[in-house]
Parts: sequence; structure tokens; C-alpha cells
Amino acid sequence: MRPLSFFVGLAASLAVAASPLADRNTGGYWYEKVKHNGINTGTTNSNYLVYRNVKDFGAKGDGTTDDSAAIQRAINTADGSTGGTVRSGGASLTGAPAVVYFPSGTYLLNTGLKNIMGTVLMGDPTNRPVLKAGSGFRDAVLLTGQAAGSVGLVAFFYEIKNLVLDSTAVAPAKAITLLQYSVSQACQLSNVMLNMPVGATGHTGIVTAGQLMPLLMNEVSIFGGGVGYSATALQLHLKNWYFKDVGTGIKVSDTLTQATFQGLRFEGCTVAIDASSGGSGHLSILDSSVANTPTFLVAATTTTPTNLQGSLVLENIIVDVSTVKIGTTNALTGSVTPGTTWIRGNIYNGTASTASPSLSNGLKHTTSRPAALVNSTGAYYTIAPPTYEEYDISNVLNVKDIPDLPVRGDGTTDDTPNLQIIIMSAAQNGQVLFFPQGAYVLTDTLHIPPGSRLIGEAWPRFVPRGDKFKNAKNPKAMIRVGNPGDVGVAQMSDFLFYTAETLPGLVMVEVNMAGDEPGNVGFFNTHFLIIGGLARLCAHLKPTSSVYWENSWATGQGNGVTGPGFGGGFLVEARMGTWMVGIGTEHHVLYQLNIHGAKDVYVGLEQGESPYWQGQGNTLLAPAPFADSLFPSDPTFSWCGATDAKCRMALYQFVTNSTGINLYGGAFWNFRAGPSQSLCSGDCQTNAVLYENNEKLYSYGIGTINDRNMVLETGPGGNVKTAAAVRDANFGVPLVGFTIHRPAFVAAYLRQSL
Ligand SMILES: *[C@@H]1O[C@H](CO)[C@@H](O)[C@H](O)[C@H]1NC(C)=O
Ligand SMILES: *[C@@H]1O[C@H](CO)[C@@H](O)[C@H](O)[C@H]1NC(C)=O
Ligand SMILES: *[C@@H]1O[C@H](CO)[C@@H](O)[C@H](O)[C@H]1NC(C)=O
Repeated sequence: MRPLSFFVGLAASLAVAASPLADRNTGGYWYEKVKHNGINTGTTNSNYLVYRNVKDFGAKGDGTTDDSAAIQRAINTADGSTGGTVRSGGASLTGAPAVVYFPSGTYLLNTGLKNIMGTVLMGDPTNRPVLKAGSGFRDAVLLTGQAAGSVGLVAFFYEIKNLVLDSTAVAPAKAITLLQYSVSQACQLSNVMLNMPVGATGHTGIVTAGQLMPLLMNEVSIFGGGVGYSATALQLHLKNWYFKDVGTGIKVSDTLTQATFQGLRFEGCTVAIDASSGGSGHLSILDSSVANTPTFLVAATTTTPTNLQGSLVLENIIVDVSTVKIGTTNALTGSVTPGTTWIRGNIYNGTASTASPSLSNGLKHTTSRPAALVNSTGAYYTIAPPTYEEYDISNVLNVKDIPDLPVRGDGTTDDTPNLQIIIMSAAQNGQVLFFPQGAYVLTDTLHIPPGSRLIGEAWPRFVPRGDKFKNAKNPKAMIRVGNPGDVGVAQMSDFLFYTAETLPGLVMVEVNMAGDEPGNVGFFNTHFLIIGGLARLCAHLKPTSSVYWENSWATGQGNGVTGPGFGGGFLVEARMGTWMVGIGTEHHVLYQLNIHGAKDVYVGLEQGESPYWQGQGNTLLAPAPFADSLFPSDPTFSWCGATDAKCRMALYQFVTNSTGINLYGGAFWNFRAGPSQSLCSGDCQTNAVLYENNEKLYSYGIGTINDRNMVLETGPGGNVKTAAAVRDANFGVPLVGFTIHRPAFVAAYLRQSL
């Protein structure tokens, strides 16, 4: 590292019109005006376009011209040439990054649009453009959010933000879906409004259908229509949705398996959430309210201890009248005020070491949320992903547009030194740093100081390279956010942390600093991917950090699936308040999420998958291949027999020596196991979750498939591990479309909550 004075000097020379008040933006969105010099490092087509402004393709946005064909061409083209190559997102993970940008305006459509993998459909957030179905609209779907024929389970890297979809000109009885969005992880749906005629029974806002694994959909508002959102998914987190004058706000299909709904507001709806069709699984609903809506939730009717349907947790729900109906009977009337949890399903409580669950058909339990995690109304803090729309273009810096400090993002050049100077300078000057699409190679730690706001274009990659990241016994961060004791702003949005190399000493991201307000240190729509290769850890949240971490997929493909990829997913040792909202963490060797010595941590949905190669017949038994470089916080698997391949498998959740831990919605999937990676059924893995020596731990909605012990525990000071929640006592009904698997659901684990 060079001395700070060096950067401060440089900062002064790079400063552009930097009075704080100049931040206030009045003239449209900076993204439309910034230099567009992103490149697709994955193609040989040197004319490939990353940025496509629909108006450059002939769209008028005047509310009268049919813009369907022009916009579809902007989506499809590889390089903009007439009759040129059509992009194929294919099944590749990141093959064709593109942003299709909509300036403000009303775009009339008589034909539905179809998205392609890798594509961001993005509007001007300062005045969101409207995609409006014409009265003669021909199709059943206005916007199909995933490629035609794409299987939802492998539909990655789709994004839709800052748009309004409108069907108010379409006859109310005509069947139309505004957005079909059957996608999985590494996708973003954010800041979208759906506008339908009030009472239009034929109109549905959003449909997710088939098998899919999305993580988060956030800041969505829906007006009118018959159904706001028709939901199916293996797992899902909804955050901050607003429904006004919708018939049924959310129709939960019987294939919604594990979901967390946070911050929903319903006004003038008939039913807020209809989950009467039953199915397997668990639903947690937090911090939500209704007005002029007679019923908040219609729940499934049957639930027995070993054939569970629809287990439920409700916290901080403010209603007019009826909160939960089962059939036509009121199961709960009135609000569930802060400090109380209403629980339906199997509960583990008390201190007996071999407890079996008690099945509740609905009871209120006193609960607590750490003061550091909630706002003045007792709701968990939330923050919308930053667009930086309040910034003027003069306060946005394109990292590839500074002639004296060339940065290439070409996947080959070492961008570390110049990027570091630019980042220090931008933090000094209060500038937003824009990273055009590309692959930014880093050979040493990149330090992100307080004052940083980094935003990427269609998930540009940070790619670590070289000897600095090779020493397993002395791991090093690629991205280090702040130093211990730093307080301020450091945000990263829309990036991919990526490697294909063997870097056993690599920690992708380390966070040391705390936000001066919740969310001021935040990660939004950032993902981790290892394809081949080996690395130590995705993210390490150190004790001095306070981070808001939203919509993040940390995964290994190739390796990770067929052999070791990342050693661990997220390691949380933070003690200053942590929010994790819609996290997918998969295939890591030791654990998916490790909360150790931590304090005050909220986790919304956590989706995890086992490493497919672990399990029966595997000989590389955890903690191998990391056995001689374990951190003090790592699981040792000392509770397993030396050759027990079903026990020596990654834990989905490992929570030790922590206090104030509130968990909602564990979706822990063991689809395949062993060297043949055959489909699992039954006892594929011995232990899913380990809770040891915690206080004030509230774990709601633990869902597993094919794990014998759902929760293994140790009490204070003890070292004997006890199976505290076993699958056989918590069977769920088989998952629709996955009947081979053996699902199980616990509504509440409260045995370390005192
Ligand atoms: C859990 O146990 C405590 C102490 O016995 C009791 O007060 C509480 O009602 C129980 N809660 C549930 C949800 O079973
Ligand atoms: C508290 O947070 C909730 C959920 O984000 C939000 O609806 C509410 O407006 C917030 N209240 C205050 C006072 O900030
Ligand atoms: C957890 O706490 C226990 C009891 O205080 C202590 O003995 C143990 O060393 C701690 N574990 C770790 C890994 O720090």
C-alpha cells in the first residue's frame, strides 16, 4: 500500500465539480450519459454491444408507435448490425452480458417481449419508463423474463429494474400476465411497478411457474388486477412489496417450498395472501400490514406432525380484522405485534436433550429482535438497492475513462494499481464509481475505503490472479472493505466475484467496517462464482463490520459440483449488526453459512445446497482438502466417525458462540450425492445444521431434503453433539416435481433462545 497522502494528492487532481450539493441531480439518469465502453470478454465478436439504448434501435417511446419489434431487436442483437448475429445466452452462465436501456417515455407494445440470459432490462429510475400493452395486444405475456424454452432451474443472470409494466388499455377479462419471471439465482427484479385495471380478473401481475430457485425480488408495487403475484418456487424472499386494489395480492401455489416475505403492504385487496392450496414447506411473514383488506392470509387446512403442510411464522403483522383463516375459520384475529411470534407447525423448545417437536396449530410466543437490527417501529431495517439516481453525471466516474490511469477490464491486464488509485480518489471526492462490463484482473488486495460507492454494468467481474492468493495458511482478501474501526459508506452493487484458478489462500471479500447508518456498508446483487479452481472463502464479515448484504449467490460450478471449489461460503463474525436478505450459498466444502462469535445478525432466506460430490462413496472427507489450514471458526467434523462420508459433509448452517441471531427460512437442498452424483432419496447426509453454545438464537423455518438430522446441537460448555431435530419427526409432503426427495420442515427451533 502507498501512503494515504499519495492518494489524497491524486484525489485533488482528479476532482470534478465536487461540492456536496452538486450531487443533487435534476437532469435525467447518469447511466444514460456516462461513456459506454464496456466489453464482453467472452466473445471474439469485437463489435459486440454491451449497452443498447432502445431509442438507437428505433423505439419511439411516444405512447403511440408500436415499439415491440425495435425493442426485441435491441435485446436480440449481438452487435447491432442489420441481419447480424442474434445473441444466444444459451445455458452458459455469463456468455452474453448486455444492458437494454429505456429512457423515460411510454413504449407501446402489441407483441410481448422476451428476455435473453445475461441481459439487464433497465429504465431511467428518475422517471420510470412505461412498457404499455396496446388495446390490441396479441400475446398472453407482456414481458417474458427468461429465454424461450429456458428451464427455470438454470435461468441465471436476468435482471429487470426501474420499469413500469402497464395493462390498463387491455380488456379486463382478457387473460394477460404482465411479467413471467421463471428464473433462479443471480437475478434481480427491483423497483418495478405493475399497473393493471382495478377489478380486471383476467390480469395477473407476475407469474413464476415450474421449477425455479430465485433468491430475492424487491421493491415491487402492484396496482389493480385479479392476482398480483402467482408464486411457485423452491425458495424465495420477497422484500418491500406494495399491493393496492388487487383481487388476491399473492396466490401461493402448492409448489412454493420455503419462503420469507418481508415488508409487504396491502391496501384494498380482497385477500392479501392466499396459501390455501397447501403443499409442502414453510412461509415466514415479517413486518407486513394490511388496510381495507378483510383477510391477511388463508392457510392450508391440514397439518400433521409427519405429513406437514404449510408451516407458518408471523412476526410484526398489523391487520384490520382477520390475520389467518383456515378455510373459513378465523385461526388468528388481530395483529401480531413486535415482541411476539405466531407459530404454526413443529416447534422445538425447552431444555430436554432429546426433545421431540410439539405440533402447534397456531400459538403466540414471546420473541426478541436485537435493537441494533430494527428501526423505531420494530421492523428490521431495509434499504433499496442504490441506483445513485440523485447523482449528477459530473459526480460519476467511469473507471475506464481516465486517460492518465488506464484501466482495461479486459481479463488480461493487471488493473490493481490504477484501480486502487481511482478508488481512493473517488472516495475522497464523493464520486460514484461506474464499472463498465468487463473482467478486472486483480493481483493484490483492492482496498475499498469509507466513502466508496461502486456500481457495475451487468455484473462485471473481479478476477483474482497470482501468487498473493495461493498460500492456504495465510489467506488474503481480493476485496477488503475498510479497516477495523472505520465507519461510513461503502457499497458495491451488481458485481461478480469470479475465479477459475486454484487459489487456496483466496478470500474473495473481507469486510471490516461498519455503516454509519444501516445499509451504508452494503452489497446488492453481487455474486460469487468459481468455475474449476479452488478458493478458501467467499465472504468474511469480521467482528468490527456491520453490513447489509442482499441478493447474493455464492456458488461453484464444475468444481464445487464435481470436486472442491470454495472452502466456505459466508463467515459472519460481525458484532455490530448484520442483515442478510436473500442469500444463496452452495456446494462449499465446510459450510454454506458460518455464524461464529457473532452478535445481532438477521438472516432472511438462506438457500444452501450440498457439494454434490460429497456423500456416500466419496473419499475426500471434510474438512479435507482444507484440514491443515482450518480457521478457529471452522467446523472440524470431530463429531463424525473418521470414515463416515455421510457425516463429513458441509453444514448448511453452523452457528456457534453467538448471540442475537434471528434466522428466517432455511432452504437446505441435498439433490445429489456421492461420486456418481446420483439423485438423492432418504439419508444422503447425516447432519444439516449445527447450533452450539448460542444465546438468543431464534431459528424459524428450517427446511431440508434428504438429511437425517436437521439440527445437531450442543448446549453451553458441552462437547457432545445431540440430534435435536430429526427428519423422521418432521416429514413434509413430497415436493411437487421432486417426489424422489424426502423433505422435512421445522417451524421454530427455540432451544438456544434464552
Ligand atoms: C417455550 O418454553 C417456554 C418456557 O417453558 C414457554 O414459556 C413458551 O411458551 C414455550 N414456547 C413455545 C412456542 O412452545
Ligand atoms: C421501519 O421499517 C419498515 C420496513 O422497512 C418501514 O416500512 C417503516 O416505514 C420504517 N419505519 C421508520 C419509522 O423508519
Ligand atoms: C466457544 O465458547 C466456548 C465456551 O465459552 C469455548 O470453550 C470455545 O473455545 C469457543 N469456541 C471457539 C471456536 O471459539
